[in-house]
Amino acid sequence: MAASDSPSAAPILDVVGVTKRFGTFTAVDAVNFGVRDGEFFTLVGPSGSGKTTLLRMLVGMEKPTSGEIRLRGKVINDLPPNQRPTCMVFQSLALFPHLSVGKNVEFPLEIRGQSSGERRTRAWELLKLLHLDPHRYYDKNIAQCSGGERQRVALARALAYDPEILFFDEPLSALDARLRKLLQKELKDIQRGTKKTFCYVTHSLEEAMVMSDRVAILRAGGIEQIGRPDEIYASPKNAFVAEFMGEVNLLPVTGGGDSTGAWDTGRKTLALALPAPLAAGVQKKLLIRPESLRFLRPGEVAGNRVPVRILNEFSLGSRIQYHVEVAPGHTLTVERLREERTTATEAELGWELADSQLLDA
Ligand SMILES: Nc1ncnc2c1ncn2[C@@H]1O[C@H](COP(=O)(O)OP(=O)(O)OP(=O)(O)O)[C@@H](O)[C@H]1O
Ligand SMILES: [Mg+2]
Repeated sequence: MAASDSPSAAPILDVVGVTKRFGTFTAVDAVNFGVRDGEFFTLVGPSGSGKTTLLRMLVGMEKPTSGEIRLRGKVINDLPPNQRPTCMVFQSLALFPHLSVGKNVEFPLEIRGQSSGERRTRAWELLKLLHLDPHRYYDKNIAQCSGGERQRVALARALAYDPEILFFDEPLSALDARLRKLLQKELKDIQRGTKKTFCYVTHSLEEAMVMSDRVAILRAGGIEQIGRPDEIYASPKNAFVAEFMGEVNLLPVTGGGDSTGAWDTGRKTLALALPAPLAAGVQKKLLIRPESLRFLRPGEVAGNRVPVRILNEFSLGSRIQYHVEVAPGHTLTVERLREERTTATEAELGWELADSQLLDA
């Protein structure tokens, strides 16, 4: 096992050829993956890609049409949610609004028949773990808590169940950006601290990248790529995955039979040098990250050079982002350090072949 692999390579959850059909529509299509004990595993994909459907099957709220879900080697397809003491979904609005923060957290312990003293001790521990001072929050009404506080209470309650795996379906999507970032960090810290297996769903690859040991990217019910965030970032399998990573440039190129390609922008066709041979007539996408593009000085050598018009610039703090036009309707995104700021309106854009990748569309 590589040192960079997740805490343990032992699979706790195996998803084998799992399919879910609603009538003739296939929402989840023969999906395979394993979640390792103690890892933070995230399913990420656009709206409608099947994330919630998949999660509902994993927790027992929905039965697979075919395939197997195994927990520590045992098939659990037909086990209802309440007989899966190992699993628990954490959703933002599943708190009891009429109970106090403390009583919400203690609820799972009460079902288990713990004494009020034991429950209170554990609830205090969990509230502290989630940075909710028990002196202030234990008796507080849920209705008087902010969105972020409720998220923490919900997480404290999920932890009180002490499940083997915690499942999350977009728990932070309703929060503002600052709070979301803060809770992402806290979730990751809690997962590390408790060594619990987290299986998380989000449509934000950025969120997935921040927290996860491994990420699976879903598209129309199927998995496109599974890997560590750094692997996916460095080697996206195709243009869909690359596009999902945010601001990237994907140039449609047609192979010239050698390591050259043509980019037809409508008004003009640009001849580009490619990082690998591409058969004549074959179409692929050329991935170039914004930070790999630079404005060339007169006479500067580059693997490719393209004349552009600079349309606008935005400050990203220490960096500046430019939108440049190659031809009408064909723009590229460039990111440079503030020290390299240009005020020109026309420029030559360059990049090195090693900084580009040919991807399937
Ligand atoms: N009970 C159902 N009956 C019919 N179709 C369904 C049902 N549940 C989900 N679907 C369909 O399955 C597809 C996947 O839905 P799902 O809720 O899993 O997507 P998602 O990835 O969670 O999307 P979002 O990011 O919007 O939450 C969608 O096209 C949805 O309309
Ligand atoms: Mg969903």
